Amino acid sequence: MAVSEMKEKTLQGFREVFGDTEGVSCYFAPGRVNLIGEHTDYNGGHVFPCALTIGTYAAARKRADRKLRFYSVNLASQGVIESDLDSFVPLHEDSWTAYPKGVIWTFAERGMTLPCGLDLVINGNIPNGSGLSSSASLEVLTGFLLRDLYGFTLTNQELALIGQYSENHYNGMNCGIMDQFASAMGKRDHAIFLDTATLRFEYAPVVLQGMELIVTNTNKKHKLVGSAYNDRRRESEEALRALQTVCRIRTLGELSDADFDHYAAVIQDPVVRRRAKHAVYENNRTLRAVEALKAGELARFGELMNQSHISLRDDYEVSCRELDVLAETAWTVPGVLGSRMTGGGFGGCTVSIVQEDAVARFREIVAEKYRQEIGYDCSFYAVSVGDGPAKL
Ligand code: GLA
Repeated sequence: MAVSEMKEKTLQGFREVFGDTEGVSCYFAPGRVNLIGEHTDYNGGHVFPCALTIGTYAAARKRADRKLRFYSVNLASQGVIESDLDSFVPLHEDSWTAYPKGVIWTFAERGMTLPCGLDLVINGNIPNGSGLSSSASLEVLTGFLLRDLYGFTLTNQELALIGQYSENHYNGMNCGIMDQFASAMGKRDHAIFLDTATLRFEYAPVVLQGMELIVTNTNKKHKLVGSAYNDRRRESEEALRALQTVCRIRTLGELSDADFDHYAAVIQDPVVRRRAKHAVYENNRTLRAVEALKAGELARFGELMNQSHISLRDDYEVSCRELDVLAETAWTVPGVLGSRMTGGGFGGCTVSIVQEDAVARFREIVAEKYRQEIGYDCSFYAVSVGDGPAKL
């Protein structure tokens, strides 16, 4: 659906539930796909995501009182959810409104208390539970619209940090900075090469001449992302503590592959050792991948994507059968340069770079194999790399 249509649908939702659209402003913040650098962002490593042209839209208006009223066009059956500015309870929310509330709460934590409430309607076109960061886009969107409506002075990078903080402390998901950063700092036709240890970043053009970026959704329903994700963080921290007894590092992202191999034996638990190996190797792989992309060596970039998947599957163990079937089948199709799971894992999507003339074959072979092995359909999206948040 085009931007104008999404905006119109969002305004229509606002009109339906709140009566009129007098003085309402509209906003957008994107979802993201990560090209490479997975589970490195809380290990002081590098990531290489890009913002997408799909994301979350909002229509918002300040109120005279302290009430908050939320409505999601996507979850219309939940109706209008009411709250007020004085009733925030971190870690106790059970609806989608925990995301905007978490951001409002974080603003207040930082001395930016809202002087009055608001009516907020949201409407997203990121497929549900796809791992393309619908929650980060909603967090960045909320920060962006609060800044605009209430006149706060904040950079987009600060909006990303606020989104992450709210996700960590209000929603109990111990995520890194990648998703919110990609959403807040997105740039059309560019990926963001971000050093998560320093937040220094550069934009790298994603010029895929004759290629397409295809996201394939496993459509897997039940996934226990939160707890397994937090487990991986703990294991990474445990590995870091062991390594710090023999070398001076602040994060796993500071080690070369060779240094890691040299010191790895100090990590007693073989599972924890494999987790750390992934974090270190994936970070260095990301550096090499960005070099390859800059040099126009797409085949090399694709190979590194495949290696990334194998490492996430075998060492970090955040893949799942559905993701493996998608990636491993893609690898067998001539014209596929690379394919890997993207995002946190345990479900969600793969990202593949496919030659234009091989796209039809890729879809046909992957769809068929997936249905045969998994028993239901996957979905394909030819995605475009878009800009960060905007007022529409
Ligand atoms: C999720 C988190 C990110 C990042 C990825 C894995 O998307 O929100 O911070 O850790 O998983 O790379």
